Amino acid sequence: MENKLMNLTLKVWRQKNAKEKGGFETYPVEGISPDTSFLEMIDILNNKLIHEGKEPVAFDHDCREGICGMCSLYINGHAHGPDSEITTCQLHMRKFRDGDTITIEPWRSAAFPVVRDLVVERQAFDKILQAGGFVNVNTGGVPDANAIPIPKEDADESMDAAACIGCGACVATCKNGSAMLFVAARVSSLAKLPQGKVEAARRAKAMVAKMDELGFGNCTNTGACQAECPKGISVSHIARLHREFLSAKFKD
Ligand code: FES
Repeated sequence: MENKLMNLTLKVWRQKNAKEKGGFETYPVEGISPDTSFLEMIDILNNKLIHEGKEPVAFDHDCREGICGMCSLYINGHAHGPDSEITTCQLHMRKFRDGDTITIEPWRSAAFPVVRDLVVERQAFDKILQAGGFVNVNTGGVPDANAIPIPKEDADESMDAAACIGCGACVATCKNGSAMLFVAARVSSLAKLPQGKVEAARRAKAMVAKMDELGFGNCTNTGACQAECPKGISVSHIARLHREFLSAKFKD
């Protein structure tokens, strides 16, 4: 199979810190294999910049296998790039063509301020999770797997919601900067399980209140979050979040 090396032009957002104004810088990169991952391609660019005595591009990454949610890049106008249901670290250069110009930006959201270049501060998500708090569990010996029967549909839905890696693509892609899909995934993954029922009402109210306090926008059902989510989290979980929140309010 032909494995032609690619020459590309990168337009990369550079910004020294949260206070300074950023802007795009253009960099050529040459001899990139289509089998190179997107992050490896940025590594190659950074290697070149370092050899030229220039500042490398700061970008977030950790696991590089689609698990941690760190690799938050907006590529050619799409969160995590042109492919669907994958993270930036799973994106490969074969998705682009030789001679392409690729625009790389950080997440754009008031709740995720730019720290440097392509790195944003996503502590707001941690604060929402902290507001959600703990799950009551009996400590002690490990119970039998079938000690608490859970219908398969509920277990499947819970697992689908729990697939959220907290990358923030939903917020970055939403025109309102809403965190509803993230909060919904967290609430939904626990709401479908008996273990999550004990604190369900408190959790839904606390997470929604924290989300509002931190300046995330409202959901207006555009569905952009679902379309760009690397884990394919469904907006149906937002409907469950609404139900959980309303039933908690009625209980009050
Ligand atoms: S680096 Fe962990 S999901 Fe991409």
